[in-house]
Amino acid sequence: EVFTDPPPPEPRTMERLRREHGGLRERITAGDADAAARQRALGKRTARERLAALLDEGSFDELDRYRRTQAHGLKIGEHRPHTDGVVAGSGTIFGRRVFVYAQDFTVFGGSLGEAHASKIHKVMDLAIATGAPLIALNDSGGARIQEGVMALHGYGGIFRRNVQASGVIPQISVILGPCAGGAAYSPALSDFTFMVRDIAKMYLTGPDVVAAVSGQRVTHEQLGGAAVHAGTGVATFVHDDEESCFADVRYLVSLLPGNNLEPPPEGPARGATADVRPALAGIVPVEPNKPYDMRAVVAELVDDGEFIELHEDWAPNVICLLGRVDGQTVGVVGNQPMALAGVLDVQAAQKAARFVRFCDAFSIPLVTLVDVPGFLPGTDQEQAGVIRHGAKLLYAYCEATVPRVSVILRKAYGGAYIVMDSRSIGCDLALAWPTNEIAVMGAEGAVNVLFRKELATAADQEGLRAELVTEYAGQLMHPYYAAERGLVDDVIDPGQTRAAIARGLEMLRTKRAVAVQRKHGNVPL
Ligand code: COA
Repeated sequence: EVFTDPPPPEPRTMERLRREHGGLRERITAGDADAAARQRALGKRTARERLAALLDEGSFDELDRYRRTQAHGLKIGEHRPHTDGVVAGSGTIFGRRVFVYAQDFTVFGGSLGEAHASKIHKVMDLAIATGAPLIALNDSGGARIQEGVMALHGYGGIFRRNVQASGVIPQISVILGPCAGGAAYSPALSDFTFMVRDIAKMYLTGPDVVAAVSGQRVTHEQLGGAAVHAGTGVATFVHDDEESCFADVRYLVSLLPGNNLEPPPEGPARGATADVRPALAGIVPVEPNKPYDMRAVVAELVDDGEFIELHEDWAPNVICLLGRVDGQTVGVVGNQPMALAGVLDVQAAQKAARFVRFCDAFSIPLVTLVDVPGFLPGTDQEQAGVIRHGAKLLYAYCEATVPRVSVILRKAYGGAYIVMDSRSIGCDLALAWPTNEIAVMGAEGAVNVLFRKELATAADQEGLRAELVTEYAGQLMHPYYAAERGLVDDVIDPGQTRAAIARGLEMLRTKRAVAVQRKHGNVPL
C-alpha cells in the first residue's frame, strides 16, 4: 500500500478565490441542464427565463442564491442544490421597483422547505418595508415532504405576510405549474392571480387523494386547470401562454401604485376633459331591455380604449377593469347587459366588492357605469345567501373614500340602484344620461302593486294598465326626478361622458379620506 501526501493546497490568493467564486456563481445560475430540458419539455420556462421575461432587461438583483437546505433526513442531505428551488430578489418593471420570487421546479420539484420559505419571507419583508409590489411566480410540488412540519411552518409565514401586506402593497400571484394544497392559499390571499392554460394547476387535494377519498377519477386539468378557475373566480386572469401573461403582469403593474401611501403612476394627459365621443349614443339602445356590450362603452371612456379586465369568465354580468382616464388610473365597475341582462347576483356582488376594496386601498378612483334591472330574483339566489353577499358590495362602496363618479346610462332599479354607487352611499359625482330610468321598480310591476284592486275590477283592464304605466313612467321614471332632488348631479349628453368623467376626476383629485377610529370594520365576508 502506497501512501501519498495530498496535493498541497493552492495558495489562498485573491485570484484563486475570485475564480472559485465566479465558477460557483456560474454553476448556480446555469442550474441543472437536464432538469431544465425536462421543464421545457413540459411546455414551461425555467425560473430564470421567467424572471428575464417579466422584468426590465438586466434589472434583476438576486438575493440568497447560496441558500441551501440544512435538512439531512430521507437522503435529502446527499444533494443540496443552491437556491433551494426558488430564485428570489428584486428588479424593475418600466423602471419601477418590484420584489419577486420564482419557484424553480427543476430543484426538488420547486417544493418548499425551510430555506426556500425563508427566502420568500425575506423578499416579502423587503417589499413591505420599501413599499414595492410583490410578484410570486408559482411552480411547485408543495410542502417539501422530507422537511416535515418546517415546510408547513414556512407556508404559515408566507400567509401571515400576505395578510400583513394586504392593502399595503399590491400582491400578484402567477401560476405557472402545480400549486397544490396549502400553497394555493398564498395566491388566494393576493390581489390578483394569473393562470396560464395547460401548465397551471391549483387544487387543495390532488387527483390521487380525490380518487382515494371519493373514488372519482379526474385529471389535474379537470380538477384545477386554468379553465376551471376562470369560472370559480380563483383566477383573476387566464392566459394562453407565459409570454402574453408576463406582458399583462407588466401592464397591470404600470397602472398600480407601489404601495398604499403613494398615488398610482400618471400616464400622459390626453385632453380627455374636452373629448366628445358621439359614438356613445349609438352603443346603448334606448329600449331598456335590449342587450349591448358595456365594454364597448368603456372603450370610448378610457385612454386609447385600453384596459385590463378582471375575471372575464366569472360573474360576467358585472365587469371590473382597470384603465386610465386622462392619464389617471381608474377602476371601472359596470353592469353588463349582455350577461343575465346585467342583474346583480351572489357572484357579481362578490366580484365587484373585492375590486372596489382593492381600488379603495390603493387610491384608485372608481367609475361606476350603471345599467341594472335589479338583483336576480329566485330561491336559488336567496338560498345562496344573496342578502349576505349583496351586502359585501354595499359595504365596499359605503366605506370607499377614493373619488367616486357614477354614470347611470339607462336604468337603475330598487336595491341595485342604491348598491351601484348611488349618491346616498357616498358617490361624489352622480351623472345620468337623458335616457335613464331610476325607480323603485319597473312601471309594469309598480302599477300591478299599486293598483291591484282597481285593475281587478276594471272593465278595460289592459287600457287602464297602459294608462297607469304611462302616468307612472311620466312622473317617476326619468333622470329629472332624481336631478330635481339632487340625487343626480348632472344630466349629460352621452357624447360628453368621457369629458364629464375626466372633469369630475380632476375636481376630486385632492379628495381626502377621513380616518375612522376603529380596529377594523366587520365586513360581511
Ligand atoms: N416534496 C418533495 N419533493 C417533491 C415534492 C414534494 N412535495 N413534489 C415534487 N417533488 C420532487 C419529486 O420527488 C421529483 O423529484 P426527482 O426529480 O428527484 O424524482 C421532482 O420533484 C419532480 O416531481 P415529479 O413528481 O416527477 O413531477 P410531476 O410533474 O410528475 O408531478 C406533482 C408534479 C406536483 C403533481 C407531483 O410532484 C406531486 O404530486 N407532488 C406532491 C404534491 C403534494 O401533495 N404536496 C404536498 C401538499 S402541500
